[in-house]
Amino acid sequence: MSFPEGFLWGCSTAAYQVEGGNAGSNWTAWERKKRLEPCGPASNSWELWREDVRALQELHANAYRFSVEWSRVEPHPGEYDEAVLERYALQAKALRLAGIRPIVSLHHFSEPAWLYERWPQGWLTDAPVGPFLDFVERVSGALRGEVSDWVTFNEPMVWLLFGYGLGFWPPGFRRGLSLERTFVHNGLIARVARAHNEAYRLLKADNPDARVSLAQNMVDLEPARANVADLGALQAWDRFMHGHLLDLAKSAGTLDFIGVNYYTRIYVRSSPFFPMGVMPCYGELERALGHRLFHLLGGRRGGRALTDMGWEVVPEGLGRVLGRLHRAYGLPLLVTENGIADATGLKREDFLREHVSAMGDAMAQGADVFGYLHWSLVDNYEWGSFAPRFGLYSVDKDAAYKRRPANGSKLFTQIAKTNASCLATNK
Ligand code: FCB
Repeated sequence: MSFPEGFLWGCSTAAYQVEGGNAGSNWTAWERKKRLEPCGPASNSWELWREDVRALQELHANAYRFSVEWSRVEPHPGEYDEAVLERYALQAKALRLAGIRPIVSLHHFSEPAWLYERWPQGWLTDAPVGPFLDFVERVSGALRGEVSDWVTFNEPMVWLLFGYGLGFWPPGFRRGLSLERTFVHNGLIARVARAHNEAYRLLKADNPDARVSLAQNMVDLEPARANVADLGALQAWDRFMHGHLLDLAKSAGTLDFIGVNYYTRIYVRSSPFFPMGVMPCYGELERALGHRLFHLLGGRRGGRALTDMGWEVVPEGLGRVLGRLHRAYGLPLLVTENGIADATGLKREDFLREHVSAMGDAMAQGADVFGYLHWSLVDNYEWGSFAPRFGLYSVDKDAAYKRRPANGSKLFTQIAKTNASCLATNK
């Protein structure tokens, strides 16, 4: 099928995962503390950003979503590095001149270490909201004229769940037992929604034509068993992880579109042993509990092929998620992330083809999708490890970080060039 004229085909990255040299981030301190593989030079995109633009051109991309690194822009509280801001503005300009629309994320998991040195409770209090908005204002001013598409927060619910609920990520708070109280009743989600709303207003005040949203991680959910209890658990998890924050933003009128990050589906089971009475059967949960306990507790995983992340490949789930968002919110949608960790590269073509085709089906049924951004442009640091390979380009660290087209890049180019999904059968 063909896509509408001007449809965006591009890639997504995040500053911390590709730039390198972001030692002022709270992630760097976390890696040390948890003895994780250090991010260090990452994919060296801070130096090699022109190579990245070239790769995007090779792919025939007309959009690129990247993020600005707060700790680089503001290395010390209240001190902004103008050279860094200029460098981001230059990158955005170069993209535009190459016919590639820059889409900029302002918060993609990584935050300045100083934020938590000053306010160890982080977003559990209002303290970070002001500094975040000051940072947004600076970036907006510096990129004025170059950028008009913004994502305020990337996957705010994943960031909060991992950082403030389960303690898997910095700042490492474990509020699992009081998940609903901390996140909903005590207003953690509402605080982030407020920061998003305010950021939206700042960006629009600078440029009324700007298109602003956030990128929500959307999982395709299935009940573990076909019964009322599991359906209820599914709805509770859907509201918690997907709906709550989007509803707050929607009712504040601060979503010009919805950014959708889609990777996989999970089964959801009602269970008294889990917070909110919900057992969301993520691959990560099975790994954390161990296979036996996971199954003893009634965990269920699907039988589809798995990616190197242990995520099931379910292309039609993307269609379902887009359809559901379309019906619930009636807003334009942008696939801000979708991709596969596949070190062999052998699964990427099918993955891409099938997900693009599922997106096309959702559009044929009325979903107003205006672009697809593949995660990711280059292999990068996957929050604790370089092992997962998501890139349409590999990065050879032993050869000056040379970018080389990986499996999937040819197909992506063909799709972007023809603005059509390229089905294996040539339909
Ligand atoms: C998403 C994140 C992104 C990347 C992909 C694989 O959840 O937004 O940074 O890690 O997953």
